[in-house]
Amino acid sequence: MPQFNDTELTAAVLESFEETPDPRVKFLMEELVKSLHAFVRKTDLTFGEWEYAIDFLTRVGQKCTPSRQEFILLSDVLGVSMLVDAVNHREREGATETTVLGPFYVGEHKAMPHGTDISPNLQGEKMFVQSRVTDLAGKPLANVPVDVWHADDDGYYDSQRPDYETSGPSSRARFITDEDGRISFRTILPCSYPIPTDGPVGQMILGVRRHPYRPAHVHFLVNAPGHEPLVTHVFIEGDKYIDSDVVFGVKEELISKIEKRTDANMPDGKPAGSTPWHLMTYNFRVRPGVGIAPKPMMAVTEDA
Ligand code: BEZ
Ligand code: FE
Repeated sequence: MPQFNDTELTAAVLESFEETPDPRVKFLMEELVKSLHAFVRKTDLTFGEWEYAIDFLTRVGQKCTPSRQEFILLSDVLGVSMLVDAVNHREREGATETTVLGPFYVGEHKAMPHGTDISPNLQGEKMFVQSRVTDLAGKPLANVPVDVWHADDDGYYDSQRPDYETSGPSSRARFITDEDGRISFRTILPCSYPIPTDGPVGQMILGVRRHPYRPAHVHFLVNAPGHEPLVTHVFIEGDKYIDSDVVFGVKEELISKIEKRTDANMPDGKPAGSTPWHLMTYNFRVRPGVGIAPKPMMAVTEDA
């Protein structure tokens, strides 16, 4: 019966993966074990700490439901989601920068006509958003579905509301680019918001004295056929949390200066109403690649 000292133990576990048929799976398992063992050795992890870690991960799993993905939140706040994004998008070739998809993309947004107000019943300052999708050479791309979604003035996504199934989408839509690659819509200015803090991940964030906020942003998913799907946000310049996003998702290029306007008409020539409004203008460049949209991070069905 073999007995191992702590370094021999690592070698023995690595050897146990020798027969793994898929070489990539073998490589990933070996590297995972090496990193985990190195962590335990480096920290002299105590039994109490190990038990705490197991209990924490158990609570993360127990918090997951069809509409709540606590493991993704954990990945996000530990910077793993952005690191996976970084290693997969090292060379942008001039394409727009990417960032996290986040847990509030529900997939298959409903296509709406250009100029639609996607937040008609919400409190908040009015905003007109205009955008153009081009390839790397600047050629406009027509008929491209662009999904958009953002939080409301209280910092909540429509899909977080208990009545989402019946009340339908709000601040969430799909626009199809016209012949000139353009889309536009009306909405409200989103605000910064905290990630959910009623679960183990949020509790951990508060426990280590981090704040739980994301700076205000609008999500975009540009899915041009024959091109890499572009998963990104446009962040609002000047937000209090722009330098300390809890999920590390901000990139300089994605920060947009929002103009405050008082013109009587919005850029599509329709009346702006009596109050000042904001204008967001941001263009997207996509690069050639496989056009498969990411899966939604959560399925909005019944809550477990
Ligand atoms: C979001 O932007 O919707 C988001 C991203 C990561 C964690 C929580 C929320
Ligand atoms: Fe968001």
